[in-house]
Amino acid sequence: MTVLDRPLTQVDSARPLDRLSDFPAIPAGWSYLDTAATSQKPQAVIDAIARAYGETYATVHRGVYARSADMTIAYEAARTRVAGFMGAGSADEIVFVRGATEGINFVAHSYPDKRRVLLSQLEHHSNIVPWQLAGWQVDVCPLTSDGRIDLDAAAAMLTPEHSMVSFAHVSNVLGSVLDARRAAELAHAVGAKLLLDGCQSAPRIALDMAALDCDFYVVSGHKLYGPTGIGVLWGRPELLDAMPPWQGGGAMIDRVSFEHTTYAPAPGRFEAGTPHIVGALGLAAAIDYVEAIGLDAIHAHETALVGQAREALRGVNSVRLYGPEDAAGIVSFNVEGVHPHDVGTLLDEEQVAIRAGHHCCQPLMAYLGVDATARASFGVYNSAADIDALVRGIERVRKVFG
Ligand SMILES: Cc1ncc(COP(=O)(O)O)c(C=O)c1O
Repeated sequence: MTVLDRPLTQVDSARPLDRLSDFPAIPAGWSYLDTAATSQKPQAVIDAIARAYGETYATVHRGVYARSADMTIAYEAARTRVAGFMGAGSADEIVFVRGATEGINFVAHSYPDKRRVLLSQLEHHSNIVPWQLAGWQVDVCPLTSDGRIDLDAAAAMLTPEHSMVSFAHVSNVLGSVLDARRAAELAHAVGAKLLLDGCQSAPRIALDMAALDCDFYVVSGHKLYGPTGIGVLWGRPELLDAMPPWQGGGAMIDRVSFEHTTYAPAPGRFEAGTPHIVGALGLAAAIDYVEAIGLDAIHAHETALVGQAREALRGVNSVRLYGPEDAAGIVSFNVEGVHPHDVGTLLDEEQVAIRAGHHCCQPLMAYLGVDATARASFGVYNSAADIDALVRGIERVRKVFG
């Protein structure tokens, strides 16, 4: 079998969205509520990765033999698959990177007009530190009282000195969803570009680059039911064309001599070295998987779970909730008088896996006036039973800590 013959992901769309049985790493009775950190992998993705390494493996872009030519076609087909998923104009707008972190570092480093960037108070460290390292002047947009990026404040802060605005599409702590269209209008009104950090939106919200009207968009594969080590930077073609390569090596060149080297056009110019071939194929399989379920169905499912979780947690004395009611797939909370690490440890004893800590968002923690929060985040495999387990676990936390 060649890599091109791989069977299509089998998803039965008549089944309800509880997809637990597709995920071999989630044993019965274990409530996995840490999808915002990384999603579990469906068997279809594991099979695609095993097949790529097991039966069809070869390098890409260089081999003169059939297996390598097939793998090159499959790798480039994965790029086309990603472009379709993101509503990009063409596969040439898709740069494969290691993850969202690398995508943002790449733009912060290579965008030619490095002046002022407007970030927000809720950004992940991956959307703060790269701009600092690359020497940008950083301004910080505050949040509304319910934890959204305050776009009225952004409108008042933006000046023609800003050449970039970089916001999370969905907050990894609060689950708040950005009004991306308005953010794009505000950025463009002062001549700035808009980068959207799509780590938490790509697994939850159908994407359409043209409709969002942003200029750059980053995604991490491992949060989208795909493998680690692969992600995507989408950029408007005219912006990618104007950006110099940021890493040199094989595959990104046109001609090399000691006197003068010329480079391949985008996206190849930005993919130095042997790429994460199997990662790209695994990501394409993950996209097959989520698209067969449907992003709208996933969004509706997770929104319902967020509503149930917030309602149930509100009923537990001494629980404080963060973020807006209509959060996408993520609920952060604290139990009064108990450190979130203790909450997480006791929940683990009850077979409930949550995240506890600063979530790589120390400036947001400072803004909220806490060191850390507990966070439950949902995926296609979760159901109301996981929320019951979470609430039972928190009742036990309250008993143990008096
Ligand atoms: C909003 C957000 N941005 C960026 C990142 C960094 O993603 P990665 O570590 O996959 O590059 C994360 C991961 O937690 C995230 O949630």
